[in-house]
Amino acid sequence: MGFLQDVAGPSLERFSQLGLASQIVVGTAAFLAITVFLNVMQQVLFKKPNEPPMVFHLFPLIGSTITYGMDPPTFFDKNRKKYGDVFTFILLGKKTTVYVGPKGNDFILNGKIKDVCAEEIYTVLTTPVFGKDVVYDCPNSKLMEQKKFMKIALTTEAFRSYVPIISDEVTSYFKRTPDFKGQSGVVNICPKMAQITIFTASHALQGKDIRDQFDEKLADLYHDLDMGFSPINFMLHWAPLPWNNRRDHAQRTVAKIYMDTIKRRRANPETEAQDMMFHLMNSSYKNGVQVPDHEISHMMIALLMAGQHSSSSTSAWIMLRLASRPDIMEDLYQEQIHALGKDLPPLTYEDLAKLPLNQAIVKETLRLHAPIHSIMRAVKSPMPVPGTKYVIPTDHVLLAAPGVSATDSQYFPEPDLWEPHRWEPDHPLTPSIVRNPLNEEDDEKIDYGYGLVSKGAGSPYLPFGAGRHRCIGEQFANVQLQTIVAEVVRLFKFRNVDGSDKVIGTDYASLFSRPLEPANIYWERRN
Ligand code: HEM
Repeated sequence: MGFLQDVAGPSLERFSQLGLASQIVVGTAAFLAITVFLNVMQQVLFKKPNEPPMVFHLFPLIGSTITYGMDPPTFFDKNRKKYGDVFTFILLGKKTTVYVGPKGNDFILNGKIKDVCAEEIYTVLTTPVFGKDVVYDCPNSKLMEQKKFMKIALTTEAFRSYVPIISDEVTSYFKRTPDFKGQSGVVNICPKMAQITIFTASHALQGKDIRDQFDEKLADLYHDLDMGFSPINFMLHWAPLPWNNRRDHAQRTVAKIYMDTIKRRRANPETEAQDMMFHLMNSSYKNGVQVPDHEISHMMIALLMAGQHSSSSTSAWIMLRLASRPDIMEDLYQEQIHALGKDLPPLTYEDLAKLPLNQAIVKETLRLHAPIHSIMRAVKSPMPVPGTKYVIPTDHVLLAAPGVSATDSQYFPEPDLWEPHRWEPDHPLTPSIVRNPLNEEDDEKIDYGYGLVSKGAGSPYLPFGAGRHRCIGEQFANVQLQTIVAEVVRLFKFRNVDGSDKVIGTDYASLFSRPLEPANIYWERRN
């Protein structure tokens, strides 16, 4: 006691002589210093041998939130080098275990339903935006049935009807948009691709009626819905803040627009339609119950939102990459001339299969710019990590980052180079998954309730995820993106404004990564 008094006594005396403001500042600094000290001590002295290493951090709660949030791929890379494929970091107070590489993707994305849970993580964000009783606001078995309904609607016949719809939307967009008047110009390409994506997706998937409403009120309402996806809403989804009030109003209004459309269509029955709403209106759950109108309406919102962010970001990246490599844009044009004829007839679904470079553009862009950089799951029972001493406890969240293996030199030579020709079988940069594709026996397929899907267990390339939550929009996205690229290439030549081969950086501020803006490119019409 005497010693403590000797040491602390004079300091306390000096502290009591300070003004109130100074006392608050000094007190806060002392509190922070003690908190940091205890947090560091805990990391150094109380390591748990059965848990993955913890990324070193100074502040509890904040942990590595800021370094992760600023640039997740760099964060994964750096810590993988330091700690190996499995490591834990603190994200907004939550212990978050990252497991990268094909084994990590498999461990998390193909995790058993008793072990991992997506809805527990996502529902706070998605339910206020989509509405009740769909996707993550229902048991997983119901989501699997909903995915089955959606997938069944996406038939080859449907895709055949979508290509001319998408082509028309693209060409008429460039005709009527003032930023593309004249022979050449400079444009921030991101908002343009966002508009093209919503017009093409809404028209193909939801029918002309709904598409026409995007010229008026629906675009603004979807923008308000979008604000519900701000990362801050993982914590503040419930708060009566202005953007949440607008989100709730938009959800009610958009849902009503769909419900009214469904009612109108039920009153005038059709037999021929190919759109998603029509298919959902004629679907029933296994227990015989017809899908209720409010669920159809909420699924329509979910589908459009799921596709919008990922496809519009991907199409913007494609255009930026083409501007950085005008030679590839020319290759694409020549590919169409050779495969489809000099007169370039109206594009069909079958034509897309004749354009391998056009397909590779989408593949290669998704390899470097997958819009979903982090896929999360809650841990429901302790999960031993095979081949290690680690067991992931239930108070951790699991995080898969398939983008890490997609940019790993072990699987993709010169991984940071955007080179669509690498997807050809005999290019110097062809990845091993193309040279030696898995044979039927090794490529295990599984049916989670929405049709057979590849487990993707050993694949380093999974931009559409894997397992029960795998994307059902992959084929639609491919048809949509390939058609958009083919039409743009027919109309324009792009290059960077300064003529360089540079590409703009990535904006990670929202849940889906996308190009930083303004992302200006120079366009010139083909004669
Ligand atoms: C799920 C990527 C386009 C609908 C996913 C997942 C990924 C993904 C990685 C898995 C998420 C997870 O495991 O938590 C992409 C990419 C796209 C795209 C890269 C475009 C380039 C679309 C489109 C639609 C769509 C166009 C709709 C037509 C869905 C749905 C799910 C999903 C319904 C399932 C969610 C679940 O089961 O939890 N997508 N997607 N996606 N996506 Fe896509």
